[in-house]
Amino acid sequence: MQVWCPASAGPGWPHPPHTLSRTEDIMDLFEYQARDLFEAHGVPVVRGIVADTPEDARRAAEELGGPTVVKAQVKVGGRGKAGGVRLAGDPQKAQEAAGAILSMDIKGHTVEQVMVVEAVDIAEEYYFSILLDRANRSYLAMCSMEGGMEIEVLARERPEALARVEVNPLTGIDDTKAREIARAAGFDDTIAQKIVPVLQQLYRVYHDEDATLVEVNPLVLTAEGEVLALDGKITLDDNADFRHDNREELVGSAGTTDPLELRAKKNGLNYVRLDGTVGIIGNGAGLVMSTLDIVAEAGQRHGGQAPANFLDIGGGASSDSMVAGLEVIMCDPQVRSVLVNVFGGITACDEVARGIVGALEELGDGAAKPIVVRLDGHNVDKGREILEEFNHPLVTLVAGMDEAADRAAQLAAEQPTTEFATVTS
Ligand SMILES: Nc1ncnc2c1ncn2[C@@H]1O[C@H](COP(=O)(O)OP(=O)(O)OP(=O)(O)O)[C@@H](O)[C@H]1O
Ligand SMILES: [Mg+2]
Repeated sequence: MQVWCPASAGPGWPHPPHTLSRTEDIMDLFEYQARDLFEAHGVPVVRGIVADTPEDARRAAEELGGPTVVKAQVKVGGRGKAGGVRLAGDPQKAQEAAGAILSMDIKGHTVEQVMVVEAVDIAEEYYFSILLDRANRSYLAMCSMEGGMEIEVLARERPEALARVEVNPLTGIDDTKAREIARAAGFDDTIAQKIVPVLQQLYRVYHDEDATLVEVNPLVLTAEGEVLALDGKITLDDNADFRHDNREELVGSAGTTDPLELRAKKNGLNYVRLDGTVGIIGNGAGLVMSTLDIVAEAGQRHGGQAPANFLDIGGGASSDSMVAGLEVIMCDPQVRSVLVNVFGGITACDEVARGIVGALEELGDGAAKPIVVRLDGHNVDKGREILEEFNHPLVTLVAGMDEAADRAAQLAAEQPTTEFATVTS
């Protein structure tokens, strides 16, 4: 998934001015979880059993009977290409396939589980997805008769083969809309008739589970003429966590999602991990986004340093949130320097300064990264006074935002390891 900063969007918006890549979204589900949700909403799927040892995979294949497909469960695309999806003619073969797939590394993700599913006789492979289209404040359905392959490649090379249909969030995918999508993708009437109810069921998953993405690739037509969702990706909207009892169970399993993001989430912080080296904390999403932009820009002058994260401690944040935020960032091994950029409004600068002091006291020797602090606004003098008195060797106070970003990027460039240079203001 890609994250970008609308704050700096130029005329090309919504295309990212600089793209900050992420490998995984905290709210992405495993394929087997998507399969379960599909089944719960009546989407036709094949039977599948999750296994974490080759022996369990064998038993799963015995239980399913007949040929199976053994599939790596990782939250990253391209499993098939990497050898993570294998056909197994009998339980012994399923065991061998699981043996080969378990512990495999797929784009940096270790396979800890496989799903053993019934193999089906595929006649045709299609593609369908529905997603939240933020730029158009709408939903977007995409559908193609050419599924199975990577959709990014299809979209790039043969965009005319991928139908894009806007879906009004108020009416969703009803029978009429589903027909429109099937027609736009070029299905003939016989197949459209079979696809249309499935698209509606998939919309129920998207809507009822509060997802931002439901993708099926491939949606297949079997030799027997049945339509089945053979692979599913779901991203849930964490803003709707409060109205779903199953969220903890679905995405709360530590170790399978980014532990830092989980920790931030537990503390009520709005945190997104990125790939750079400069940890960022600010108050208010707009300020944090512009901080990301100026750090990315300043980073160009210092060997390509970039933001390590987005972290908004919120408008009325207490010093406790600063403690929690700094802890999360300091624990990120990628981070080499930290920039705290706060404009005191509801949160006064002295509160923020106390939070920084508290965090550094709590972290003790664990705080081994230089922190550049830029404070402005309500009670700024008091805030600066607290930090000056504290006189911590890791903290540098800087007055302006550009200067602060430059200093943080420079410090990151100078810190190849967790060792730190002594910095004073
Ligand atoms: N149950 C099944 N029976 C027969 N063939 C299958 C089955 N599941 C998957 N396949 C075949 O394997 C291909 C790849 O499977 P799948 O789409 O699940 O993984 P993938 O697309 O490679 O992984 P990712 O979605 O992570 O990129 C499918 O396009 C299909 O041809
Ligand atoms: Mg797939």
